[in-house]
Amino acid sequence: MQPPILALAPLHEVTDAAFRETVARCGAPDIMYTEFTSVDGLSHPAARDRIIRRYLQRAESEGSTRAQFWGSDPEKFRAAAELTRELGFAGMDINMGCPDKVVVKHGGGGALINDPERALDVIAASIEGAGGMPVSVKTRLGFDRDVADSWVPKLASSGIDILTVHARTVKELSRVPARWERVADLAPVVHESGVLLIGNGDVTSREDALARIAASGADGAMIGRGIFGNFWFFSEERNVEDVPLGERLAVLSDLAERFEERYGEFRSISTLRKHVKGLVQGFRGASEIREQLMACSSAAEFRAVASAHA
Ligand SMILES: Cc1cc2nc3c(=O)[nH]c(=O)nc-3n(C[C@H](O)[C@H](O)[C@H](O)COP(=O)(O)O)c2cc1C
Repeated sequence: MQPPILALAPLHEVTDAAFRETVARCGAPDIMYTEFTSVDGLSHPAARDRIIRRYLQRAESEGSTRAQFWGSDPEKFRAAAELTRELGFAGMDINMGCPDKVVVKHGGGGALINDPERALDVIAASIEGAGGMPVSVKTRLGFDRDVADSWVPKLASSGIDILTVHARTVKELSRVPARWERVADLAPVVHESGVLLIGNGDVTSREDALARIAASGADGAMIGRGIFGNFWFFSEERNVEDVPLGERLAVLSDLAERFEERYGEFRSISTLRKHVKGLVQGFRGASEIREQLMACSSAAEFRAVASAHA
């Protein structure tokens, strides 16, 4: 992977295999991540197959996707790394930044920032289980304060190949602007260890991503919320505004079909509603079409709305 790297963030209830296939077709990012998966859940034989079907499906068309995991038990990460390799993902990513109360209570996600020794054990076990497959980490500047100057060098020298830094603390959630100037501060020390640095937070467009990469000295930028309703975010040619309405709706209903095929029996298609606002706005009659889409509960219903506006 050559810089500048444009990455699609791991997004729970968004970046499933159907969605990643859709984004890859509209304008492929250099790297994508699955939704986060619990290593604890995977370690229960009764839940394992269900969790793999729900969170760890892989599309044939995606070559650069890493599977992301959360948890705190190094042995379970080792097993998750072995599974990730068997499933054919390009790599494994460890979540060390999630603020979710349940995740933090279990010592995972952002809580690992407060327990560097365990964090390094998790990384070491993952690298062993990965058997040569790349292992990366996504983290934040700190838990309740910015400790990146001591935390990031530990991660950079742990054997990972990519470090993504969401430039806020865990406690800040996404409530303050991302501090990309801190990404710039951290770039030299990360590069000294031969690790690629991806900055994350508040990127609004492809051009914005490239500008932030250039200004910070990072190797890449990761995009989270910017993908909602803009499946063309990574395209060099066009953005959602350049895409005719009929095509936008056709892509959404195509996504709905892919989603239903893969997950229809156990996940609700209403999760696609997140994209409706960003996808259909800025013209007369938009709110009516949005209402029709928000009422859809099957791929056939999405297809019917798309056909009516083709
Ligand atoms: C709906 C949603 C789900 C998320 N799920 C994950 C996740 O599974 N793993 C993770 O590391 N971060 C997750 N995040 C955080 C994003 O990956 C990203 O770090 C954050 O949104 C900041 O980037 P942005 O400002 O571009 O959105 C999630 C964020 C959102 C909004």
